[in-house]
Amino acid sequence: MDEDFLWGASISPHQVEGSEGSDWSRWEQEYAEELANMAEDRFGDRGSWDMIAGEAEDPDNYISGEAIAHQDRYEEDIGYAADMGLDALRIGIEWSRIQPEEDGFDEEALEEYHAYFDAMEEEGIEPMVTLWHFTNPDWFVDEGGWHSDEAVERYGAYVDRVVEEFGDRVDHWVTLNEPSAWVRSAYGMGTLMPTGVDWPGGAAEDSLLPVQPLQAWRAYTNLAEAHHRAHDSIKDADPDAMVGTANSIGAWRAHGDGWLNGKIVDLLERFEYRDWIDRTEDAIDFVGVNHYVPIDVDVFMRGNDYRTSDMGWPVEPGSLEEVVRDIDGEYDQPVIVTEHGLADREDELRTEMVEEAVPMMERLREDGVDVEGYFHWSLLDNFEWDKGFWPRFGLIEIDHEDGLERRPRESARRYAELIRDR
Ligand code: BGC
Repeated sequence: MDEDFLWGASISPHQVEGSEGSDWSRWEQEYAEELANMAEDRFGDRGSWDMIAGEAEDPDNYISGEAIAHQDRYEEDIGYAADMGLDALRIGIEWSRIQPEEDGFDEEALEEYHAYFDAMEEEGIEPMVTLWHFTNPDWFVDEGGWHSDEAVERYGAYVDRVVEEFGDRVDHWVTLNEPSAWVRSAYGMGTLMPTGVDWPGGAAEDSLLPVQPLQAWRAYTNLAEAHHRAHDSIKDADPDAMVGTANSIGAWRAHGDGWLNGKIVDLLERFEYRDWIDRTEDAIDFVGVNHYVPIDVDVFMRGNDYRTSDMGWPVEPGSLEEVVRDIDGEYDQPVIVTEHGLADREDELRTEMVEEAVPMMERLREDGVDVEGYFHWSLLDNFEWDKGFWPRFGLIEIDHEDGLERRPRESARRYAELIRDR
């Protein structure tokens, strides 16, 4: 495989180090107890229940705190990535950490990020930087969040500062992670995340409260504008920078190739990612693909026999290939797989997944598909949002019983071996 391809892994700030001044931390404090009480209803029917019940029913599981202490242990973590022979890490900058108040950037936090970039540089690991991965500073939310008229400019000011500070250290930028998926959840019915909307969304998963269409639409269009704003800021500083968004994209399949099923797939794909990419296509240098699940669409609801992750999501280790081929066919820009993985304590399916992914990338390139990177989600076990710590997504295990000790899993060893031998 040629030199330019990036083999990597991804993390996000809140999930590995927490974020004290963000809407997520505030929400967790409020809902941890309720989430623990809901655990059996939500996950009791999963095959993994016996394994996870102890953690899933414990309120502490739902409080990120300092998460897995990546902020203190990043040198060690980056060292593992280097040992694996990775070229790049997709990391994130936590907005609430560097701008805890609207009119104040935290100089110390900016210095800490410089040290973070230094550590990557020393290990020869290229950073891909995500500027927003679901968390918002408290002040931003208190002043109206993403549906406010000021949202784009507030985010823009944050991005300007990041670019001024780190622009010459970063070649790949992800302005927003899964913006359209986020809007659907944050403003949707019975959401299990901070809403930023003045209504009791909270932890009421079975709530019959309606979606918030007006705010959702404003947030969505603001996010698209915010992407453009960030793109311009980054490109003004460095015209060669690669800028994109990371988009949640499933492998949608029309059962039996039926006409109606096909129409539904088209509609859902439009809703999931196409509309967003159409809105931002004039301001991206790559299409970021976060791929997790194959999804069969069938009006007759016939079942399927996918294997499942510990979270109960359908898994097919090779489903990424059809997604990358489709996206490559649909858009002119190159594709970068910005996330691909699963919750798998036993690590069997994950190992299979990386064993599929590495030759898949090579095959795709040989076939002329313009894919420029593969980032496994995740480098480390981490804090999986409303599910807390029990889902284990890491190539590297974190032992919560043993001082957050890091232990590379078999899948990490295989991934390293495969990219070394290619
Ligand atoms: C998100 C990650 C998350 C992963 C697994 C993606 O949608 O970007 O933050 O941990 O999926 O759920």
